[in-house]
Amino acid sequence: MLNVQDLSFSYGEVQVLRGIDVHVPAETIVSVMGRNGVGKTTLMNNIIGLLKPSSGSIQIEDRELVGVSTHRRIRAGLAYVPQGRMIFPKLSVEENLRVGLSARDDKKTQIPDDIYELFPILKEMGKRMGGDLSGGQQQQLAIGRALVTDPKVLILDEPTEGIQPNIIQQIGAVLRKLVEAQQMTILIVEQYLDFVREFCQQFYIMNRGEIVAHGETDSLSQGMIQEYLSV
Ligand SMILES: Nc1ncnc2c1ncn2[C@@H]1O[C@H](COP(=O)(O)OP(=O)(O)O)[C@@H](O)[C@H]1O
Ligand SMILES: [Mg+2]
Repeated sequence: MLNVQDLSFSYGEVQVLRGIDVHVPAETIVSVMGRNGVGKTTLMNNIIGLLKPSSGSIQIEDRELVGVSTHRRIRAGLAYVPQGRMIFPKLSVEENLRVGLSARDDKKTQIPDDIYELFPILKEMGKRMGGDLSGGQQQQLAIGRALVTDPKVLILDEPTEGIQPNIIQQIGAVLRKLVEAQQMTILIVEQYLDFVREFCQQFYIMNRGEIVAHGETDSLSQGMIQEYLSV
């Protein structure tokens, strides 16, 4: 569904991604793990088109995305929940969701009901300012906003960072539901191993800009964890 092939990227002279291959099959949840600073966010920003790779290919359903604007990638079916959530603190919850609507092809002005079914809290809190929500609620809002464009592939960068365990579970359950009920495909940067084990079918581990391990989550070994993940 989403295929990244031999992707490289440099910030100026500093090469941060080296020949990355990541394949995300349709209707699966795939994790990207690795310590801080190894290039996970840089990879996601290349996939969504905020950064331009020096070489390599990014395809969604065999359609090449390198050279295509972020806006058009969203129309092609990608959606992004950036690290740190990046909701608008001075806009209401409802207004934050409407920002997502503006990226749609059609002239739809109603926030789809299924967003509120997935996250009832967003309905309850509709008139509240984004900045007044708890961290977990803001993360739910960020995911809701990404879903407003009705994506085929959802990309999330560390959605559980700094969030209470009960909301982490809710987020995981929503992602699973998106795959099962809406045939979504999900790529998730995640450092929280319990979450990966519970919700992700496959993993990739990055180290210094390279993929150093990947496989079924069941095959994630203690050796890999020690070498590439534990701090
Ligand atoms: N805007 C930037 N300019 C230069 N270097 C950057 C920039 N953003 C990140 N980096 C560097 O690129 C590397 C990868 O960062 P990042 O992709 O954010 O890692 P991760 O998400 O895995 O923590 C780090 O060494 C970081 O310092
Ligand atoms: Mg990051």
